[in-house]
Amino acid sequence: MFQILTILLLETQFSMVSALLTVEVPQQLYTAEYGSNVTMECRFPVNGSIDLGLLTVLWEQKRQGWLKSKEVYTFRNGKVLHPSQHPDYIGRASLLHRELKLGRAILQITNVKITDAGSYLCLIEYQGVDYKYIALEVKASYKRINTQVMRIPGEDTFVFMCQSEGFPLAEVFWQHENFNLSGPANTTYTLTADGLYNVTSILTIKPNMSENYTCVFWNKELNGETSAYISTLALTSTQYSGQKILISLIIPICVTVAVLLSALITFQKRKSFKNEKPKKDRKRKLNPNAKDENSDDFSAQTEALYLSAVTASRDSGTVGL
Ligand SMILES: *[C@@H]1O[C@H](CO)[C@@H](O)[C@H](O)[C@H]1NC(C)=O
Ligand SMILES: *[C@@H]1O[C@H](CO)[C@@H](O)[C@H](O)[C@H]1NC(C)=O
Ligand SMILES: *[C@@H]1O[C@H](CO)[C@@H](O)[C@H](O)[C@H]1NC(C)=O
Ligand SMILES: *[C@@H]1O[C@H](CO)[C@@H](O)[C@H](O)[C@H]1NC(C)=O
Ligand SMILES: *[C@@H]1O[C@H](CO)[C@@H](O)[C@H](O)[C@H]1NC(C)=O
Ligand SMILES: *[C@@H]1O[C@H](CO)[C@@H](O)[C@H](O)[C@H]1NC(C)=O
Ligand SMILES: *[C@@H]1O[C@H](CO)[C@@H](O)[C@H](O)[C@H]1NC(C)=O
Repeated sequence: MFQILTILLLETQFSMVSALLTVEVPQQLYTAEYGSNVTMECRFPVNGSIDLGLLTVLWEQKRQGWLKSKEVYTFRNGKVLHPSQHPDYIGRASLLHRELKLGRAILQITNVKITDAGSYLCLIEYQGVDYKYIALEVKASYKRINTQVMRIPGEDTFVFMCQSEGFPLAEVFWQHENFNLSGPANTTYTLTADGLYNVTSILTIKPNMSENYTCVFWNKELNGETSAYISTLALTSTQYSGQKILISLIIPICVTVAVLLSALITFQKRKSFKNEKPKKDRKRKLNPNAKDENSDDFSAQTEALYLSAVTASRDSGTVGL
């Protein structure tokens, strides 16, 4: 309420002394990457030196569809006014004071958030009053794509998963040998606490072995796309190393069983010399049991889930103006 009143007051003043001051903006639209720093600039005329005690610079932000504006930074008559600053901007907004004497009111916002997007009012009072609006767009490209390959137990079906966070919402399409595989993919998203879209796409397919599949995160506004390769080869190699481990286990087990059996047979033979009735049943039971344990172990290993950390991201195009 206080801010609105101040602006109204200043605007009445403005109509009387407008001729003395004109604020100019060298750039009307800024685009910032999420988490980066951005500086936005308003210019006002100074004649040689400046008396900071007579200068007021006010920066306010208004998000689209929001009624109230947020106070970003206030510099009034040479002093920084912190108490009225909106909590969203505490510790993140600053005015580059050394630029003021050059007639440049430069607002810097660090660690840009999705909620920083909107319209910024820069109002300057110095022997007159004027203001301009600057627009800020915030984007977050889907830089880091997490990939995962899974094989459905007992089937030839593979499940590929790509997950990434960004803003605005991206479409995900899957490619194989440069052909689109849009059909069987299931793409869902949630919103994170930071206002980013957490997009997960799952492709269930019966692929040929050792073939590359690509998931592409695409958004027209992001002016580019990012993609990641997933290969069934990754899973095949796990199976292979799994088999190697099994082989290294099976051989000693077989050797041990063979040694035990021959020992048992020798023992039984010696016994049968003394005792007329040999007990062959015991010998038969031991052998199949050992084999069953091995095959259970084998299938558990081959269905092992493989988590791939290989992510090949590609950014094309430039961000900003
Ligand atoms: C943003 O600004 C802060 C403070 O000036 C600095 O520590 C940080 O390294 C900057 N970050 C980037 C991405 O330039
Ligand atoms: C700028 O300052 C000079 C002298 O310092 C003065 O002659 C001139 O009128 C001033 N111009 C404006 C626009 O204030
Ligand atoms: C795949 O689909 C996307 C979006 O529908 C499209 O932009 C792209 O050109 C397609 N690619 C191929 C190779 O068909
Ligand atoms: C897509 O996945 C979501 C969440 O895993 C699930 O609720 C939904 O039923 C799936 N849709 C299709 C068409 O498979
Ligand atoms: C994004 O979603 C995935 C599951 O779909 C979850 O594991 C992950 O923690 C989420 N990330 C964030 C930052 O919310
Ligand atoms: C697998 O490869 C064969 C021959 O190369 C091809 O005919 C078939 O369409 C492929 N299957 C898939 C799912 O790509
Ligand atoms: C799959 O992708 C990897 C990494 O980009 C590449 O080295 C390999 O040659 C590709 N394989 C096929 C069959 O395209």
